[in-house]
Amino acid sequence: MKVLFLNPSGQLGGAEVCLLNMMASLREAEPLWQLHLIVSDDGPLAEKASALGASVTVLKFPVSLSRLGDAGAGGPAGQEVSRFNLLQRLFRSLPSVVIYKRRLRRAISQLSPDVIHTNGFKMHVLGALALPSGARIVWHIHDYVRPRPVMARLLRLLAKRPVMAITNSKSVAEDVREVCGERLSVRTIYNGIDLDTFSPGGPELDLDALSGLPPAAPGTIRVGLLATLARWKGHATFLRAMALVPESLPVRGYITTGNLYQTDGSQSSHAEIRKLIDSLSLSHRIGLTGLVDRPASVMRALDVVVHASTQPEPFGLVIAEGMACGRAVITSYAGGATELVEEKINALTHQPGDAEELAERIVELATDSNLRARLARAGRATAERRFDRSRLATELIPIYRSVVAARA
Ligand code: GLC
Repeated sequence: MKVLFLNPSGQLGGAEVCLLNMMASLREAEPLWQLHLIVSDDGPLAEKASALGASVTVLKFPVSLSRLGDAGAGGPAGQEVSRFNLLQRLFRSLPSVVIYKRRLRRAISQLSPDVIHTNGFKMHVLGALALPSGARIVWHIHDYVRPRPVMARLLRLLAKRPVMAITNSKSVAEDVREVCGERLSVRTIYNGIDLDTFSPGGPELDLDALSGLPPAAPGTIRVGLLATLARWKGHATFLRAMALVPESLPVRGYITTGNLYQTDGSQSSHAEIRKLIDSLSLSHRIGLTGLVDRPASVMRALDVVVHASTQPEPFGLVIAEGMACGRAVITSYAGGATELVEEKINALTHQPGDAEELAERIVELATDSNLRARLARAGRATAERRFDRSRLATELIPIYRSVVAARA
């Protein structure tokens, strides 16, 4: 079997981490299968996929295509990328899309894969457009489609081309069904993670040193948010919650970020976060570590891992990873994230964007070591039961086989 993955970013966001876990899982289950990756840019994804034994082709997106995104379009007033602006940019990038599509079709034909597995919106579209006759494509959808008006339209138009769509949660499956209707069969595969890397024991980073803070007093409870710089990941909610945690409690907050995507309009910046920290007078209690590429070592240095997305989270890899590291987790309770946790059993929750409620949860955990320990144990057990990446091959292999059989 020859599987060709198409990924629209060379950096490591959640979808790319999942892709690497799929590759690792397939490698172990089917060592003789050939795995190929076509990726839109050089970078850590290409390196890590090669290290897993996949052959990698970098087929660079032209700049206009990599910057194109409608993640913020249709968002709350004042934050949206205007549709007009977006359509203008889409129109301007059309010539490069046409050229790229041709190059992609040529590359696919040369590789002649049994299955093409696309792992991001732009590649769902480009892959479907570039599909040589007889080739079979599966879309792996990691984000909600409806909030992206242009993408929703494109996916609806192209929905007959893929054999099926895989989603990372039932919540995303529902969203995709609403957009694409009966034309597309949809199946959910929950993400899997590496339980050896994300484990309770192992190296811990010095978060104070990384953030330029003096060492915290012994007994300080460390609470951290790990997220990309997308605004909806809730850095502001987390900071406002931290401002509500009484000064008398020994709690320190940390934010670890990465600017992983190049699309315009939906991103915050370190400067913006720093400004909010200062305006809330939190600089002595919040550390900004910058981009750290060892999330497990960050999580192990924390007592509490916070997920604070202000919009429904499609899956929320950080939730599964925090549980696997045996740390108490607080999640915002909406979307796919609600499918990962059992409230008060393996995590605490708050309503998206509700800083007061998040502050209450932080205080609850900061003042109750037994509760932290109980959630940590239950979280690790959940991760072992539900998020071991070896399950990915078990679920993907029959799908690929059925795709090939359908072609025969
Ligand atoms: C996307 C989603 C995130 C999910 C990740 C992996 O980044 O926004 O919720 O965890 O994909 O599926």
